[in-house]
Amino acid sequence: MSIHRQLAAGLGRARDRTLSLVNFDDDELRRQYHPLMSPLVWDLAHIGQQEELWLLRGGNTDTPGLLDPSVEGLYDAFVHSRASRAELPLLTPAQAHGYLKTVRDKVFDVLDRLPDGEPGFEYALVISHENQHDETMLQALNLRAGAPILGRGAALPPGRPGVAGTSVEIPGGPFVLGVDAATEPHSLDNERPAHVVEVPGFRIGRVPVTNAEWREFVDDGGYREPRWWSARGWAHRTEAGLSAPQFWNETEGTRTRFGHVEPLPDDEPVQHVTYFEAQAYAAWAGARLPTEVEWEKACAWDPRTETRRRYPWGAAAPDATRANLGGEALRPAPVGAYPDGASAYGVEQLLGDVWEWTSSPLRPWPGFTPMIYERYSQPFFDGDYRVLRGGSWAVSADILRPSFRNWDHPIRRQIFAGVRLAWDL
Ligand code: AVJ
Ligand code: FE
Repeated sequence: MSIHRQLAAGLGRARDRTLSLVNFDDDELRRQYHPLMSPLVWDLAHIGQQEELWLLRGGNTDTPGLLDPSVEGLYDAFVHSRASRAELPLLTPAQAHGYLKTVRDKVFDVLDRLPDGEPGFEYALVISHENQHDETMLQALNLRAGAPILGRGAALPPGRPGVAGTSVEIPGGPFVLGVDAATEPHSLDNERPAHVVEVPGFRIGRVPVTNAEWREFVDDGGYREPRWWSARGWAHRTEAGLSAPQFWNETEGTRTRFGHVEPLPDDEPVQHVTYFEAQAYAAWAGARLPTEVEWEKACAWDPRTETRRRYPWGAAAPDATRANLGGEALRPAPVGAYPDGASAYGVEQLLGDVWEWTSSPLRPWPGFTPMIYERYSQPFFDGDYRVLRGGSWAVSADILRPSFRNWDHPIRRQIFAGVRLAWDL
């Protein structure tokens, strides 16, 4: 397929997804579900504003745009905190829809004239941005109180018994961390450049930690035992009153998911834990969190050919037999569900299901160069952010790669994040 058609298809898929997440009445779209999240109508118009900026205005806010500058300013995430956005004089849902449509029609006109062979990086950036906001909107919808407005999600393959709690040894040696524009033209700035790093041998969990495993930690008093926690983690656990993952109803043995109350599935990867909880669980289990470098080696390196694979399993694009991606399932798949998605080392469910906390703070790779969207990564390099890897069930296959890096504060757990353990040899 030509690059034009691929990009047009990616834009279309992102938009279908966005529209499916705002198919509610105006009051619903304007509600602030939680102080950590924007009202859905903010995300909606912000998606259009960013698309206009990067694809129609070359990233230059000084050029006239479709919105009045005072209105456009409402969608600057650096100016208006999420908690404050519901009080802003935002575009109405109808205005936001109209704006997105106008921008998209113009974008397709420009895309038609993109020279063949151009990688279309800015289009990929915009596809990534829209899909990332779709995941953000799913986080908001999950925090929404009251009767559910989403279903229970699409069917998933069954897990395999006996795989939870098992691990794989990754021998020490060099590997190529990160990617370049030549091999991954749509990679974002923080994934580049590719460079060789030496990684001492380690073990890593074959699959993420499950709810059943996490329950043992809870039942063993793990949340009441300071010795498993870092000093900052314990302080946060005390102040926030943490006693189980978010959305668990401990005494009932159930969890709430998009408003549905259901039995806690034993063999599903645990979700909605902070970095601090992940760290404490790992200490209790006699393990630690992987570094993001270890994680990427376990995911992408083929020790036989000493080259990177495009995906853990090889060159083929992700599909429903290899990974749970795209958001339709509204939950992670049970562990062992994707033997065909295993990496060269035999590590499973690296892409999709849950974001995996790593012990690494977000830092640039040596030789980092900001992309046209200069404030995508750089403002977060010196902050209090930990890297998450692998993508959740809510990430689009269109934007995910083994080198993809996400980040959040160590106290956050509204994200679809879980844990994979690691051990020194
Ligand atoms: C990469 C997911 C941390 O949501 O803050 C969206 C993505 N950046 N708009 C975020 C992003 C600008 C970003 N994360
Ligand atoms: Fe954004």
